[in-house]
Parts: sequence; structure tokens; C-alpha cells
Amino acid sequence: MTTLKVEFLTLLLAGCSSSFSVMPSIYLLNIGYNGGTVYQVNGDTVVNPQASVTLGNMVGRTALEVRIGYFSLCLRSSPGGWLCSQNATSLAENLYPYEDPINLLNVAQNFHENIVFPYLLIIAAVLSFIVFVLILPYPPLLKTVAVGVCFLSTILVLISVLWQHIASVAAANVAINLGNGTVFTGVGITAMILGWFTFGLLTLTVVGVYFFVAINALHAV
Ligand SMILES: *[C@@H]1O[C@H](CO)[C@@H](O)[C@H](O)[C@H]1NC(C)=O
Repeated sequence: MTTLKVEFLTLLLAGCSSSFSVMPSIYLLNIGYNGGTVYQVNGDTVVNPQASVTLGNMVGRTALEVRIGYFSLCLRSSPGGWLCSQNATSLAENLYPYEDPINLLNVAQNFHENIVFPYLLIIAAVLSFIVFVLILPYPPLLKTVAVGVCFLSTILVLISVLWQHIASVAAANVAINLGNGTVFTGVGITAMILGWFTFGLLTLTVVGVYFFVAINALHAV
């Protein structure tokens, strides 16, 4: 179970780090243009309904989409090929102004730089591996340590996944409204499921390791 968990964490972290088939589908947040369709904004708090038209004219027919992963950004300006890089500057060099008229790549890059925080997950993955080593038949003391390490790892994953979930939902909500009907955003469901699934597995592991140690202690008496 522990190896499975480390693999989920690794997959999550690697998501969007390369253009390999599955990778661009594991992302935290995506943002893109509606490809020429404008969804007119209305409501009691919309002071300037013209904003949709004005922005729509500016945006044109571009259908650029940017996906933000833990370590890199992926973009696609036409259906088909994804272009991924850890270096947003090098991605920007591939775009013409008409492809990204209101600078969504820049929005994505700032979200990635200021909000995405993969380091707790990396520490958790390392800790999970340590638990895996500690749980091998070693003295009981080490097994007690294993419970502690496993618990710590679970807390780190919880903080990390919860943080990323809330931050992504919040950013998506603000971005879509600022776009006045010209952009779409979304939270990467696969990444969220992987994150919460990892947390679930870790919680099970903590319980499992705890009982393992408790039963061993009973046998020792
Ligand atoms: C990112 O790419 C740009 C342009 O290709 C390059 O000038 C810059 O050095 C790169 N940055 C890093 C950290 O690799």
C-alpha cells in the first residue's frame, strides 16, 4: 500500500511536467479562451454589460488553453499538440499576441509562481518511503517511530491537498468572472482525486501501522 501511495504522489507531482500523453491531463488548474464564443454577463451587480462585447472583440477567436501543474505549465493553441515546459518564458516565445490577447499565460505563470506549493507533498513522499523502510522487521521502537512519521506525512498531505484545492477553486472563480464571458477555467479533477485518494490511503496506513505495532507489543508482553 505504501508503494502505491508513493506512486500516486509521484504521478501527481509529475503531472504536466512533460508532454507525455497522460501528463497534461493531470493539472491543478486550467484557463483558456472560449474560442470566439462570448457568454454575455448579466446580473444585479453587473454595472457594465458592454464589457463582454468589448472584451469579446479584443479576444477574437483564439482557443488557447493553459494548464498549470505542480512543476510546469502546458499550453495548446489548437486542438492536438500540447507544449509543456517548466519555463513559462520559453512557452511565451511560441505565442503570437492574437493567440493570447489578454495574457492568460501570464495569469497562469503568476498563479504557478505565487500559489502552487509542491514542497509539502515532496516531503510527504520522502516520509512515506521512510515508513516503508521502517516497517520492515526491525526493533519495535522503530515501528513506533513509523507510526509517528506516517501520521506526520498524512498531515502534510492533508494541508497540501486542502490548500491546493481551495486555492484552485478560488482562483478559477475569480478568473472566470474577470473574463466577462470570454474565458473558461477549471480545477483539474484528476489531480484532486489523486491528492484526496493519497490522503485516504495514508490515513488507512496510519491506522494499519498503529494496529500492527499494537499487536506486536501485545505479543511481546
Ligand atoms: C527560460 O527560457 C528563456 C528563453 O528561452 C531563457 O532566456 C531563460 O534563461 C530560461 N530560464 C531558465 C531558468 O531556464
